[in-house]
Amino acid sequence: MHKFFDNPAERIAPPGARVPASVSIGGVEIRPATVLAPMAGVTDTVFRRFIRNLGGCGLMMTEFISADGIVRHKDKKAKQYLTFYGNEHPISAQLFGSDPATLGDAARVVQDLGFDLVDLNLGCPAKKVVKCNGGSGLLRDLPLIRNIFDSVRAAVTIPFTVKFRAGWNDNEVVHINLAKMAGDCGLAAVALHARTREQGYSGQARWEWIAAVKDAVKIPVIGNGDVRSPEDAAAMIAQTGCDAVMIGRSAASNPWIFRQIEQYTQTGSYDLPSDAARYEMIRTYFAMLIEEKMVGAEGKMKQFASWFTHGVPGGAQLRKAVYEAKSSAEILDAVDRFFEALLSSEPSAEHREQLVTGDIRERCASC
Ligand SMILES: Cc1cc2nc3c(=O)[nH]c(=O)nc-3n(C[C@H](O)[C@H](O)[C@H](O)COP(=O)(O)O)c2cc1C
Repeated sequence: MHKFFDNPAERIAPPGARVPASVSIGGVEIRPATVLAPMAGVTDTVFRRFIRNLGGCGLMMTEFISADGIVRHKDKKAKQYLTFYGNEHPISAQLFGSDPATLGDAARVVQDLGFDLVDLNLGCPAKKVVKCNGGSGLLRDLPLIRNIFDSVRAAVTIPFTVKFRAGWNDNEVVHINLAKMAGDCGLAAVALHARTREQGYSGQARWEWIAAVKDAVKIPVIGNGDVRSPEDAAAMIAQTGCDAVMIGRSAASNPWIFRQIEQYTQTGSYDLPSDAARYEMIRTYFAMLIEEKMVGAEGKMKQFASWFTHGVPGGAQLRKAVYEAKSSAEILDAVDRFFEALLSSEPSAEHREQLVTGDIRERCASC
């Protein structure tokens, strides 16, 4: 199991650098200019509403959804992935696939369901997606991407965006050409995860690629990769000039990050959650999962408990107890025992620091 942030860079935000208060994407107002990244197995309706309730996130995105699964109506999972509630607006549905007509048809379904935006995934490195020429597999076929852009653009009136990696590998980077093509084809914004497919999650996201895309296009640019704190978010805006910041892994290990960014934008500082707040937060999320009768709720609870307690003293014990639990009730019991013990002892300053910097571990072996 590899660690996500295996080479954290020191990102310095110049004094006064801040995430913009808003950005307009094809007429949809995103306020503030922060985006919850699509994450397979994570950003379902429960997680999105949980983040929305904590505050500070401007745009929600679904996990990626197979266009084929939507159009053929055979895929029950696709239906589950398309479920959302009123308080998730503005929300974007992310599609993957490689057939222009199917993607156009799926985008129409997304629009009819009331999504505010539709997004195309050109970043997923998962073998099963790349094998069907979807995700980052398409990065080697710009003419096909153009056909997809044209087909989806013609199929819907809601804003259409694309999220992509910079290329297949260092010798085949296409971020500038791809972003320009998106602008030419009438897409409303581009989001760049500033790594190549071959890079996976290793090393650092190369923010200079985001800056280059920003220089090349007139449509809004959303920067993505390695934002772990409000200071990182402000540094990304300052260093790249991008219009909004997209956050993935840190939203799972520190769901308060959007609220912290908003607070930092307004005041120049931000609060760290207390242990009691963390306890309440994890219980709230678990209660929402159970109430929604979410498929795979127990697995999601286990995964979340694991991310959330990395770097926390005693966290390994909790992870073991949660891993061995056989029901939602047993998982809740382990969490209760862990936090009750934690709250009855005074945490050290070092502990507090660890609470906000704990990394999350691999969830989707590939994305
Ligand atoms: C568990 C997991 C699942 C992901 N699933 C998707 C996905 O469905 N679609 C997508 O475009 N990117 C996916 N990604 C990539 C993220 O959206 C994001 O680009 C990446 O994590 C880099 O941002 P970060 O450094 O803020 O985490 C996934 C990432 C993770 C960790």
